[in-house]
Amino acid sequence: MDLKQEINRRRTFAIISHPDAGKTTLTEKLLLFGGAIHVAGAVKSNKIKKGATSDFMEIERQRGISVATSVMEFEYKDTKINILDTPGHDDFAEDTYRTLTAVDSVIIVVDGAKGVETQTRKLMEVCRMRQTPVMIFINKLDRPCRDPFDLMDELEEELKIKVRPLAFPISTGPTFKGVYNIYEQKLSLFMSEDKQRADGEVIDITLDNPDLEKYIAPFHNRLIEDIDLVDGVYPEFEIEEYRAARLAPVFFGSALNNFGVKELLDCFIRIAPSPRATTTEQRTIQPDEPKMTGFVFKIHANMDPNHRDRLAFLKICSGRFERNKPYLHVRSGKNMKFSSPNAFLAEKKSVVDEAFPGDIVGLHDTGTFKIGDTFTEGEQLKFTGIPTFAPELFRYIENADPMKFKQLSKGIDQLMDEGVAQLFTSRGNGRKIIGTVGALQFDVIQYRLEHEYGAKCRYESLPMYKACWIECDDKTVYNDFIKRKWQNMAIDKHGRDVFMAETQYALNMAIEKFPEINFKFSSEF
Ligand code: G4P
Repeated sequence: MDLKQEINRRRTFAIISHPDAGKTTLTEKLLLFGGAIHVAGAVKSNKIKKGATSDFMEIERQRGISVATSVMEFEYKDTKINILDTPGHDDFAEDTYRTLTAVDSVIIVVDGAKGVETQTRKLMEVCRMRQTPVMIFINKLDRPCRDPFDLMDELEEELKIKVRPLAFPISTGPTFKGVYNIYEQKLSLFMSEDKQRADGEVIDITLDNPDLEKYIAPFHNRLIEDIDLVDGVYPEFEIEEYRAARLAPVFFGSALNNFGVKELLDCFIRIAPSPRATTTEQRTIQPDEPKMTGFVFKIHANMDPNHRDRLAFLKICSGRFERNKPYLHVRSGKNMKFSSPNAFLAEKKSVVDEAFPGDIVGLHDTGTFKIGDTFTEGEQLKFTGIPTFAPELFRYIENADPMKFKQLSKGIDQLMDEGVAQLFTSRGNGRKIIGTVGALQFDVIQYRLEHEYGAKCRYESLPMYKACWIECDDKTVYNDFIKRKWQNMAIDKHGRDVFMAETQYALNMAIEKFPEINFKFSSEF
């Protein structure tokens, strides 16, 4: 198979949802179809269970699980599918945002009774920013759900994207009869109660079949009217609109009952985009360029204390990646060879000899790599668009064991490279500040510093509202701002100036008083 064929048959995507909407269940059902697993229950939810937030062992255990399921790849109908898992817990939202930089499309799972929830809205903003095509799966139809047309209105309004149902439900809850597949013009009846197997039975029957009434009475007329309304209200489905991220096709089903999942998957492999072009500071990279390029979007510490190395996740953007071939690590200028790059088949890591655009390769790292690092065959490139967000929780960090100063700074350095949190140095008092988006990270850092680096840290509270990067073309205004706000200024790891506002009011005042200054709430690695 040549490079173009390999690219065309690849689909790299993430499933995202508000916690509990059914992301894990849907992922599992997709893996069952792909034969990557054989029994339900094999994929563990990586969400940190409620009530366990202060239990470090639990956090670590969950992190261990999420390493195993970070990338799940399988073959389905000659398509190579790469599912990138995202952490379920809000506190790890940054990790999710970064993972979204490595996907070519997204499936959003929405609970049919709850509709659009906070996390869905936030994640959709990231997709919109990056123009990532999205498909929506409305889940839990076996339970009483909201009116499908109301749900569709809410999706359009809240997610700010046009929608087009490609399937439509026939009732929900105890009277749920099935789903009419508008795209294929077939009816799938909800009959099987089999929650475990991938091949649960569904019956296909067209809308004009006289037997239809027998199957779905008393909802026969209602379905005909609904489909009429769908065709009248929503524009014809156009694949280009979906791929341009302007239209989201909508499916209905019940992941738990394995219902509507095959339809989703079959449509997905047909319409979802294969690996797309990627932008770098220098130029746009086409996936079918012969030379290999890729970037690191995630770094994960090894959970096994006997193996202290880390795993860097490399997304291949162009060309063919080969084992033992030297590649340029652009930031350090060094050539590196990888003798055991990992693929992630069936929950197990295995060594791969080659990989193609869209694939994710796990590289062993002893602390050299950072998120955003670029690998090429010699070209000086830097991929852009890997975001870091303005942190909202802050603490001073202090060394609690004077004998372990070196270990502490090495640990902090590596944890920041992994993207666990951000480190700032206050201009006002020179102290080190850790900034995060979630409270859990402070516990994770403390725990990992102790267990992985043998260092101890102590925190001191720092009640701040937000940190944001500042920019200004007029150097005089810029320097004047820094001078005036000296006590609230800090420097990030890359030497950039950061303004720390104590309150929302203080931030608004600063924005108002210094219109020439550009306050940025996200930055790129
Ligand atoms: P998440 O990854 O998005 O957080 O959600 P997850 O798949 O873990 O699903 C959350 C809960 O919703 C689970 O129940 C799961 O069984 C249930 N669920 C998922 N899909 C459906 C569906 O189609 N219908 C119904 N009725 N329920 C569904 P749980 O009780 O929290 O967990 P578990 O003990 O069953 O694993």
